[in-house]
Amino acid sequence: MATESQVLDALRAVQDPDLHQDIVKLGFIKDIHIEGGSVKFKVELTTPACPVKDLLKEQCEEVVLALDGVETVEVEMTAKVRSRESDQEDLLPGVKQIIAIASGKGGVGKSTVATNLAVALAQAGARVGLLDADVYGPSIPLILGCQNEQPFTRGKKIVPIERHGIQLMSIGFLLEEGQAVLWRGPMVAGTVKQLLQDVDWGELDYLLVDLPPGTGDAPMSLAQLVPLTGVVIVTTPQTVAAHIAGKAAQLFVRMNSPLIGVIENMAVFVSPDSGKEYRLFSGMSGEELASQLKVPFLGSIPLDPLVGETGEPSVIAHPDTAQSRAFLQISKDLAAQGSILAMARQQPESQTPKFTPA
Ligand SMILES: Nc1ncnc2c1ncn2[C@@H]1O[C@H](COP(=O)(O)OP(=O)(O)OP(=O)(O)O)[C@@H](O)[C@H]1O
Ligand SMILES: [Mg+2]
Repeated sequence: MATESQVLDALRAVQDPDLHQDIVKLGFIKDIHIEGGSVKFKVELTTPACPVKDLLKEQCEEVVLALDGVETVEVEMTAKVRSRESDQEDLLPGVKQIIAIASGKGGVGKSTVATNLAVALAQAGARVGLLDADVYGPSIPLILGCQNEQPFTRGKKIVPIERHGIQLMSIGFLLEEGQAVLWRGPMVAGTVKQLLQDVDWGELDYLLVDLPPGTGDAPMSLAQLVPLTGVVIVTTPQTVAAHIAGKAAQLFVRMNSPLIGVIENMAVFVSPDSGKEYRLFSGMSGEELASQLKVPFLGSIPLDPLVGETGEPSVIAHPDTAQSRAFLQISKDLAAQGSILAMARQQPESQTPKFTPA
């Protein structure tokens, strides 16, 4: 019969490819049970949306099965999202990771991306909140077809609306319909604080925050109010978009908010008839921007005319399209990068990336 320490020794051969350490050292192995030739244990990953979950499971089975005296191996894959570590006072202690979705230029697809990624993470089993912090043009209620909802309050807190398994709050819910607001800096800061502090977010693995374009009052207030796991930059392959995105990225880093990576949107149109790919713009690609900023490139989302047709995000309305598959893959890579940032406590202070526009 194999012993617990033999099982652990064997499992040391399995590396987490993102965290670059073996899974025993990372503390992933839980509850080992050995009975005769049968071995059972759990592997607790850092996110339920782990992109290499199946691969790690296979490797675990393989190395333990190779031990003398082991006949069957049962591996249960579980996950516990790791918390962002910070000395900063925390308005949202129940939220493990806060990820902001930002851009330089407007209209590049932040809100579309934030909504689809939030739903994809929830589908993977994570507890997800989505905060529409675009004070100037809240659009997520429209994307999710719930613009007429009125959130209610419980005690002193506003209760988020639940949609497709995510907890949603938008500044749009709190404004009168058609109401125009002349936002001034301190008002924006106060509203962002209210959307964090006065909303009953409860216990969440991920809170995604959809920002207005640029680096105005809302993004800066957010970065000051809560320790962000990091910021995702959305860009389109137009030189102006990439140029401004690069500047926005630098500002976030200066605010001590690490960059998680770059997502490119609307770069390619895939013809539904022929499957042929057409590149629509010729400016700096998301990949080039990511490499300039020295951050991961999280992926490219094709343009799809079906977007926005149904009042439902693509991953719900059309899960089998190239676009939805891209969202799914990016949600996993985003979760993996979130784990890397949350676990990289000992790393030196992030440096301002150098950016040279094309
Ligand atoms: N991949 C895509 N394919 C087709 N349409 C898209 C795609 N991404 C976004 N859109 C559309 O482009 C428009 C802008 O998208 P969205 O509102 O998500 O951008 P944004 O960056 O949040 O804009 P803003 O800066 O105004 O907040 C919307 O009409 C949306 O439906
Ligand atoms: Mg938007």
